[in-house]
Amino acid sequence: MGAMERSNEELIGREQVRDLAAVLATVGHEDPRGHHPVADPCPAEFTWDYEKGAKPRLDRLYEKAKTAQWNARTDLPWEIEVDQERIVMLNQAANPGSLRWSPEDIAGTALEHWSDAEWLRLGVENQNWMLSQFMHGEQGALLCTAKIVETVPWIDAKYYAATQVMDEARHVEVFSRYLDEKLSGHYPINAHLGLLLDDIIGDRRWDMTYLGMQIMVEGLALAAFGFIHAITQEPLLKQMLRYVMADEARHVAFGVLSLQDYYAELTDAELRERQEFAFEAAVRMKDRMMMQEVWQRLEVPPEDVVTVMSRAPERDEFQVLLFSKIVPNLKKLGLLDAAGGWLREKFTEMGAIGFEDLVDTTQEVDAEADGSPAARNVA
Ligand SMILES: [Fe+2]
Ligand SMILES: [Fe+2]
Repeated sequence: MGAMERSNEELIGREQVRDLAAVLATVGHEDPRGHHPVADPCPAEFTWDYEKGAKPRLDRLYEKAKTAQWNARTDLPWEIEVDQERIVMLNQAANPGSLRWSPEDIAGTALEHWSDAEWLRLGVENQNWMLSQFMHGEQGALLCTAKIVETVPWIDAKYYAATQVMDEARHVEVFSRYLDEKLSGHYPINAHLGLLLDDIIGDRRWDMTYLGMQIMVEGLALAAFGFIHAITQEPLLKQMLRYVMADEARHVAFGVLSLQDYYAELTDAELRERQEFAFEAAVRMKDRMMMQEVWQRLEVPPEDVVTVMSRAPERDEFQVLLFSKIVPNLKKLGLLDAAGGWLREKFTEMGAIGFEDLVDTTQEVDAEADGSPAARNVA
């Protein structure tokens, strides 16, 4: 397979990354079947090499994960009552401009005559939507990591991945419970996120599961959870995110440590395929931030959303910040500069290359003390 230049059209189904009308046209719907099968062509793999610690850094991560487990039911203060509207108002007051555009930006659109109540509803729906997407993404991680247990060739990685399966079950559990008990509605999976998860699970190359999930999806989640953790004034969500983030940092480090050696042996043509996969994933994740399903539920026409977003590019700039964990990890894997630096160019166009020299997640996890977040959080 040669490193043929593939166009954006072939990679992401459109020529311009920032074609907002095309992005908004793909909207997630309730699945009438109530479930969603994906064929998985990746062969499961036994190994007969049981030597524990043959990959010492993965072994250390596995030992760390064993002591860092927490119990979603008993380690979080579920008795806290959440007044969702009050929390949304506090968020909006602390971050003016977030989900509230200036009169010039919304002139001539459906948002022009919105009352305070409608802006509040947008904040509430945004929160229901965001937590729903986290929940669906966590289920994606649960399935992907179970797949890694089957497909990765090394025993140390199978061991570690088994702990991550438990972590992800816990994450699905906490987001699902939070939505049911503390918020005011669910959303189906965002169309762009769904396409990405299907691509990851449907790939026959075992390393693509890691690249798609541990590096891209979880790298973005780590940054997103960090922002929400920093701004939310709701104590249950804050604590929940802190626990989840401690797990996610290990997961991202697991991806980097597993792929580093493997990618050092691949050809340029093989690396180009990985670069393209990372680029497609990045675009899908950026696309999902348009929260298509919220606008649809609030009956705001897509063309009005395009108008507002085009007039107010700050939101785009904020979205780029969510790549701050991903780019240094891709650099550490050698994917930014492999095959003629193709991926570096793509991230430069997306405005995210400035993060390349931030610390990568393996360094962050090494720096962190051992022990469970629950044990560290006695206060
Ligand atoms: Fe997770
Ligand atoms: Fe995770």
